[in-house]
Amino acid sequence: MHTEPQASPASSTSQDSPASPAAQESPGSLIGTQYEVEVGPVAHGGHCVARTDEGRVLFVRHALPGERVLARVTEGGEDSRYLRADAVEILDAAKDRVEAPCPYAGPGRCGGCDWQHAKPGAQRRFKGEVIAEQLRRLAGLTPEEAGWDGTVMPAPGDKLPAGEVPAWRSRVQYAVDESGRAGLRKHRSHDVEPVDHVAENDGGVHRVHGRDFVRERADGRTYRVGMGGFWQVHPQAPQLLVEAVMQGLLPRKGETALDLYCGVGLFAGAIADRVGDNGAVLGIESGRRAVEDARHNLREFPRVRIEQGKVDQILPRTGITEADLIVLDPPRAGAGRRTVAHLASLGARRIAYVACDPAALARDLAYFQEAGYRPRTLRAFDLFPMTHHVECVAILEPAAKGS
Ligand SMILES: C[S@@+](CC[C@H](N)C(=O)[O-])C[C@H]1O[C@@H](n2cnc3c(N)ncnc32)[C@H](O)[C@@H]1O
Repeated sequence: MHTEPQASPASSTSQDSPASPAAQESPGSLIGTQYEVEVGPVAHGGHCVARTDEGRVLFVRHALPGERVLARVTEGGEDSRYLRADAVEILDAAKDRVEAPCPYAGPGRCGGCDWQHAKPGAQRRFKGEVIAEQLRRLAGLTPEEAGWDGTVMPAPGDKLPAGEVPAWRSRVQYAVDESGRAGLRKHRSHDVEPVDHVAENDGGVHRVHGRDFVRERADGRTYRVGMGGFWQVHPQAPQLLVEAVMQGLLPRKGETALDLYCGVGLFAGAIADRVGDNGAVLGIESGRRAVEDARHNLREFPRVRIEQGKVDQILPRTGITEADLIVLDPPRAGAGRRTVAHLASLGARRIAYVACDPAALARDLAYFQEAGYRPRTLRAFDLFPMTHHVECVAILEPAAKGS
């Protein structure tokens, strides 16, 4: 249960904390203003909703639902629809609060994690609440209607004793500040939070024909991934997602399949193994280098084809009019109405939608419903602990089948 946020304006920080340059430049800016507020529910994006006494909506980072905090505005002004703020003092802490295990976490510091200050179980609960909210608001679906049990599962090995933190980032991109110090970007900023220790592990980089690659394993296969190409960051993610997709699709010998937004061919490889020599898989991927890697990774399958280009442009040009199975794993923006309508017209018996943004997933599920597909199951995985990100796998089937 959440309490309706109540708020009372607290002191302005104009004396005890100088307003940012943006505040000085833009008239009406409220940056630096502090409000004492009661914190409401979690909203998509790694923050909680609160309301000031005057009814202004605040999206507050570093807070937890039910807490009473002093929130300092970081973005927005008198005319803004809402303000962004950081909880700079916790007046009444929630039971889910823990001390952030990372020394670089906290208001105004590294922006890489959103929930360092929450117990791992609470982090997963928050992510589940966000998924449920997006499904309800954008797709008109209850968890039951989406075939989801409402849980967000940790990756194998990530359920650790209290106080231990999963080391899940297999790759980190460091930024360098003006004085040459390596660090991590602050939240919604190009500023750098310097870090003392920067990992130097090259992660097993190989150089082939002037290009750098890493080799990754999933589903019993080795995948070559060029530097800058996409591979899931959590080391357990590729295997976990392949299993979820294959359990949902249950590919049969001789079937035809599409792997859209296929990267270096993770799902295409797993399906090709299962549909056998009489089956066929078409992958589509926009990254030229990723396409080269996918073709290399899947070269043993004569009936796997990888096309390079944007899905919405390439798919209509392929001339494909039917497919038994479809996997789509789009970037955060999702697939969109036109692509969803095209996919639904191919008559697949099952579609696996792998989604890194529950809002885009929910919107696209609404398009799929319009086009005659309904979710059969939905599973959610915490593949980005400490952040607000969450991965979902929805399996869809023609609505007529279940009705
Ligand atoms: C979330 S990744 C998924 C990759 C792959 N399925 C995997 O799990 O390793 C999305 C991929 O889509 C590609 N991409 C982004 N926009 C695209 C588009 N409009 N059409 C085709 N591919 C696109 C990206 O380059 C990236 O490789």
